[in-house]
This record gives sequence, C-alpha cells and structure tokens, in this order.
Amino acid sequence: MGDPVRKARILVIDHDPAVRALITTRLLLAGHECVEVENAGEAEARLKSQSFSLVLSALHLPDRSGLDLLKEVQQRSPHVPFVICTSEGDVQTAVESMKLGAADYLLKPVQLDLMVGSVEKALQSEQSKIELEGYQSNLEETVERRTRQLHTAIRRIEYTYDETLAALGGALELRDIETQGHSRRVTHYCLEMARAIHCSHEDLRAIARGSFLHDLGKIGIPDAILLKPDSLTPEETILMHTHVRIGYELVCRIAFLTPAAQIVLTHHERWDGTGYPQGLRGKEIPVGARIFAIADALDAITSDRPYRAAASIEAARDEVERESGHQFDPELVQVFLQIPEAFWRKIRREATERPQLALAGLAEAFGKPESFLEYLH
Ligand SMILES: [Fe+2]
Ligand SMILES: [Fe+2]
Repeated sequence: MGDPVRKARILVIDHDPAVRALITTRLLLAGHECVEVENAGEAEARLKSQSFSLVLSALHLPDRSGLDLLKEVQQRSPHVPFVICTSEGDVQTAVESMKLGAADYLLKPVQLDLMVGSVEKALQSEQSKIELEGYQSNLEETVERRTRQLHTAIRRIEYTYDETLAALGGALELRDIETQGHSRRVTHYCLEMARAIHCSHEDLRAIARGSFLHDLGKIGIPDAILLKPDSLTPEETILMHTHVRIGYELVCRIAFLTPAAQIVLTHHERWDGTGYPQGLRGKEIPVGARIFAIADALDAITSDRPYRAAASIEAARDEVERESGHQFDPELVQVFLQIPEAFWRKIRREATERPQLALAGLAEAFGKPESFLEYLH
C-alpha cells in the first residue's frame, strides 16, 4: 500500500480527437500507455479484447451516455476505475456518476496536471484495494488453516486423555478385584438404555465417559477400606462415600469431560432423595446418573460377591422393578424392563469373556458401526 503507481494502460474515450490527443499525450508523458477511441461501441469492443487499468471517458458520447458505459464497466470489470470528464453544466450528472461508482470526475476543459493527479489517485486506490483484498483472503486462509490445526490438536489431546482415562479405569479394576469388568459392563448397559430413550450423540458420549469413570475416585480411598472384606464402620462408610467427590474433582478439571463429571458426582444419588452426596431427588438427578443407577444395580446383582453368589438377570429385573420410584426413576425402569433379558446376558458375556475387546466391543454388542472409542471421543 502507498507504493508509487505502476505504469498503467488507460482507455481514453472522447468524440473530439483534439481532446483525446491532449489527454493521451499528457498521460504518455506521465509514463502511462493509452488507447484512444471515440465512442462507447468502440470502447466496449476494446474492453472485450484487451485489459485496461483505468477508463477515462467523456460523459457525452456520440452513441451512448458515459454513465451507461460506466455501469457496464462496473459489471464486467469491477476492478477497473472509471474517471468521467464532463462540462460545467453537467456537474449534477457527474455527481450521479460518482454515486454509481466512478472514481472521480474532471471538468472540461480538462486541466491536464489535475487529470494526471486524479488518474493516479484512482489507480493507487484500486491497487490498495486489491492488496487489501489479497491480505484479507490470505488472512482468512491462515485463520482457516490454523483452526483446522487446532481442531486436530484438540482431537489428539482428547484421544490421549481418553486413553489415559481408560488406563486409569483399568488400573482401578486391577486394584478392586470385586469389580473386574464392572466399569465396562455398566458402560455398555447404560448406553443401551440411553439409546432406547433416544439420547443425543453428545449425551451418549457423556454417558459413556461418565459411567466408565464413575468410580475413578476410589483411587483416593485407602486399600484398608476399599478392599475390606467385612462391612464398613460408619466412619469408613463416610470416607468411602467421598469417592464420588474425588472422582468429580479429577474429571471436571478436564473441560471436555465436564458433562461426564456430573455422572461421576451423582452416580450414587437415588430417585427418592436418600442417596449421596447431595441427596438430589427425582429429575434433579442428571438423566445419565439415573440410567447409571439401574445399570449399576443390574451389574451388582448379577456379579459374584465374597458373601454371596451372583443372582440371575431375572432376579435383577425383579429387584429393579421393586425399587421403581424408590431408588430408580420409574420411567427408566420401564425402559429397562422392555429390553430383552438375552440382551443383557450377551453384553455381560462379551464384556467379561473378551476384555481385550472391552473398548471396541460396543460395535458388536450393539450391531452398530460405531466403536466404543467413538463415544469416548
Ligand atoms: Fe461408586
Ligand atoms: Fe460402581
């Protein structure tokens, strides 16, 4: 911007050969190249076959008005500035031409130095406009490219986080022998119910992450309590209950896991308000956590415990039905009961027998092309 005006090719249009000669001679002296024609028809023909940096035209042409020509040039070559030359009496029309987009107007008889100044100003302003447009489009491209890079980086970070979280979940399972495969199974169970009530893709993702990580806070519970074979004392129970807050604190620090963090915090709330840590009631409990409560019960009842053997899925269904409106959301209980028993059995078998497929098993379990990892991402 602000560079000296480069040598320009100018189309000069005037019916008077003497005026044309004066103008072109002066422009040639200023270092520009000129093509002169006497009417609009010739001008159009030249404009079609050659390229020009500027058009300098009389307002009155033998065949058409200079304003018509201006409109046409504007349409055909919006980057070619158009300067009008007019006589004193036509100032109003000249002003009109400026409104239509002419770069400038000159009064006849043309003062040649003024004309050169006006032509060069118009050329410079056009040059600046083109440079600015180039700069803007470059800027847009840069912004677009950077945005793409940023998205890729975020996806990579999320992937790394999820791998880390999957590893954490796995480490937790190793430590807490009783719950081997538990996180994986409840995640599958939850997703099936969430699909049945047509949760959005985002909700499914939050539910998958939240249910998989629900007991992450147990990492902060001492082994003596976590692995204690006998029942816990009231003090130990209070300490054990802190796992929901510990897990929440761990998970909510990662922005993209915030929706999942809610499930971690509320996964022990009960429909009747007697759960912990906040004693939320009914629909105050996030839907993901209400789904989770049923999935967790199903898994707990159908898993072996040191003090009792695993019960059947049928027994779990009876228990969930009994707790409808107490521990569980009655509407979700109905959703759960409508899913065939064989289905839960299949998920359980796959999640337990083929742990190596745990994270990718969802595709098979649900007959859908998505993998479990897709929900984690
Ligand atoms: Fe828990
Ligand atoms: Fe659990």
